Amino acid sequence: MNAAPVASAPGDPRLLGRDVRRIAFDADRIRARVGELGRTITEAYPDGDLLVLGLLKGSFVFLADLVREIRRPLHVDFLVAASYGDAMISSGNVRMVYDPETELEGKHILLVEDIVDSGRTLNTLVGLLKQRAPRSLEICTLLHKRIAGALAHPVRFVGFDAPHEFLVGYGLDHAENFRHLPYVASLKQVPTD
Ligand code: PRP
Repeated sequence: MNAAPVASAPGDPRLLGRDVRRIAFDADRIRARVGELGRTITEAYPDGDLLVLGLLKGSFVFLADLVREIRRPLHVDFLVAASYGDAMISSGNVRMVYDPETELEGKHILLVEDIVDSGRTLNTLVGLLKQRAPRSLEICTLLHKRIAGALAHPVRFVGFDAPHEFLVGYGLDHAENFRHLPYVASLKQVPTD
């Protein structure tokens, strides 16, 4: 099989000419870890209805890969919360922009995040989701910065501990750019636009 060459920084046209500090997690490493997570999650849910709930936008790439590694029946839905805007640091404002249409009551809910940073997003959403009386609620994140204070709910499934850098790619953005990178990179310079 001829695998397509994977473009990576430097020189990746998807980077808009920006310099990256480094590739924190390359595509092969992510693929391997997502496979492991899928197997772990499959074993963690021997029965019951499983609803994988992706938090948009950041989780869309991770979720798409993750659900294809989970070998049991499941449904997928999404919710949208926004906190950062175009800033490099969290504004602390978390608002629900789209509420899942699916009934949550009595189901195993697996909330999928791209990254846990300050933990504010999770702390807000966990409270809202628990009010819907799910059978269980667990969180899966690709990246965890481990800087959040007390989280309202433990994060059960973690892909990688993340470096304390500004990360983009594999769903993560800066000002909506870079979500389509197949790897996670950190930006060398703080973009001003
Ligand atoms: C980002 C990221 C997480 C959240 C993590 O979302 O995708 O959901 O922030 O930060 P926290 O732990 O400090 O709350 P963002 O609001 O930027 O929206 P996006 O998913 O559309 O990029």
